[in-house]
Amino acid sequence: MGRLEGQIAFITGAASGIGMACAKRFAREGAKIAGFDIAKPADELWQELLALDPEAHFSEGDVRDEASVEAAAGAAAERFGRIDILVNSAGVSAAGTVGDLEVSEWDRVIDINLKGTYIASKHVVKHMLEQGSGSIVNLASIEGLEAFPSQAAYNASKGGVVLLTKNMAIDYGQFGIRVNCLCPGLIDTPMTAILHMDELKEMRDKFVRSHMLGRAGKPEEVAAAALFLVSDDASFVTGHSLVVDGGFTAGRRLTD
Ligand SMILES: NC(=O)c1ccc[n+]([C@@H]2O[C@H](COP(=O)([O-])OP(=O)(O)OC[C@H]3O[C@@H](n4cnc5c(N)ncnc54)[C@H](O)[C@@H]3O)[C@@H](O)[C@H]2O)c1
Repeated sequence: MGRLEGQIAFITGAASGIGMACAKRFAREGAKIAGFDIAKPADELWQELLALDPEAHFSEGDVRDEASVEAAAGAAAERFGRIDILVNSAGVSAAGTVGDLEVSEWDRVIDINLKGTYIASKHVVKHMLEQGSGSIVNLASIEGLEAFPSQAAYNASKGGVVLLTKNMAIDYGQFGIRVNCLCPGLIDTPMTAILHMDELKEMRDKFVRSHMLGRAGKPEEVAAAALFLVSDDASFVTGHSLVVDGGFTAGRRLTD
């Protein structure tokens, strides 16, 4: 029997990277998946998920669009009868200092990463309140804990997600709803593929060396941590920010 047998998971950003890895891992553990993403998943990935969960359902929409999130969460609750798990994985990054970021770019990053987490939580938590149970995992980042150069909007959005997580843990713990976040280090996904460009190679190598395990992480390693947080093994864990960062935030070596 899987660790999430019969549970229903609503996952934003489910088409790719960490969101898709969570969908597959949770399905392997017996959960039914309702995915939500602005882009359709690649056919091959979707077929892999369907092989694990033949009832998996996908809605196309934008986490910034409250009506489409509300409709998708409502449809999932109606289709499956409940929503036990929410993973907020939809996210984008953008480079820029406060001085050179366009306001539109600032808005895009904050609106998708932070406001989108709020909107999806708002429309899933009401179903969890009806049930009197639920578990939410927000994708923050090591960049929600430490500042990175030229990452003004991303840093601010992920710092916001860390504190929103604690806020939701306080507001909803009394109703049987746990809320935690994950702070991954560098994970190889489509979001970070840009770092493989020749001109960014030196920076990526240095970034990788700052992870004490000397490598980037895999989306499946983040999904394993998400599984712990949503499972009964974490029944007394709420308001926590769990780093999955190969030791990045442990400290600095002096030789690099
Ligand atoms: N990859 C990393 O190194 C890393 C590290 C720390 C945190 N994270 C966070 O993990 C989460 C997942 O990132 P990933 O690496 O899997 O990236 P990814 O690009 O592979 O996946 C992100 C998904 O979010 C979707 N998305 C983007 N904008 C959306 C919107 N407006 N509405 C709905 N869906 C939208 C994309 O279509 C994509 O499928 C993000 O929140 C990211 O900030 C990633």
